[in-house]
Amino acid sequence: MLLSDKIPAHVGVIMDGNGRWAELRGLPRIEGHRRGAERSREIITAAMEVGIKALTLYAFSLENWQRPKNEVTTLMRLLEIYLRNELNEFIEKGIVFKTIGEIWRLPENIQGLIAEAEARTAGNTGLTLIAALSYGGRNEIIRAVKKLISTGVSPDRITEDLFDSFLDTAGISSPDLIIRTSGERRISNFLLWQGAYSEFYFTDTLWPDFTKEEFFLALHDYQMRERRFGAVPMRAKS
Ligand code: FPP
Repeated sequence: MLLSDKIPAHVGVIMDGNGRWAELRGLPRIEGHRRGAERSREIITAAMEVGIKALTLYAFSLENWQRPKNEVTTLMRLLEIYLRNELNEFIEKGIVFKTIGEIWRLPENIQGLIAEAEARTAGNTGLTLIAALSYGGRNEIIRAVKKLISTGVSPDRITEDLFDSFLDTAGISSPDLIIRTSGERRISNFLLWQGAYSEFYFTDTLWPDFTKEEFFLALHDYQMRERRFGAVPMRAKS
């Protein structure tokens, strides 16, 4: 049972384990990604159902460019199909679609689909769905530093809020909860600045097996925690 007043506003997900899911079944890795994309659809709907405001999905990291060429090509093809198929759904469901990462490195047709999806959903007011594509947290921070310096700002005017406004996630609240599937317990360059006070939920479940029910379990686990942001527990205050 979820508490409606403790729903995390922003959830980030490191969707890991597609390859292993496929290999365990003697299937090509891309089949795992295909199943993974279907799972993303289910989790997006579940997030909307409980009133989550923003959902960031780590769909393709900068490091993923180093994968074998045919896996990168098929992942890009899958992304293209996904964007083509989902746009109408995003519009119907009131989803605001955004991306973070070095989008300029993606194939031109995908850049076009992203621009269209962002433009056509910008006026929506429902869930903000952020796809981290060609994304790396350190890279995002370096790009933000470069942009900030190029404004000629004087160092004593630099605050955390100002820096935040130069990140790809400008205007989006920090993630309250970050979920990682597949048994790995690492951040892997995901939302490094933004995740400073995030709660983490790790599960051995591989992403294609991560159901809506397990997503709700993760939310329940989050609701049982006490977030202190470095301060003392509420009961210890006098
Ligand atoms: C990690 O599994 C997953 C990826 C690198 C890609 C994630 C992509 C999808 C879920 C499909 C596209 C989704 C959207 C929303 C367009 P892995 O290959 O690293 O798995 P492994 O660690 O078992 O090898």
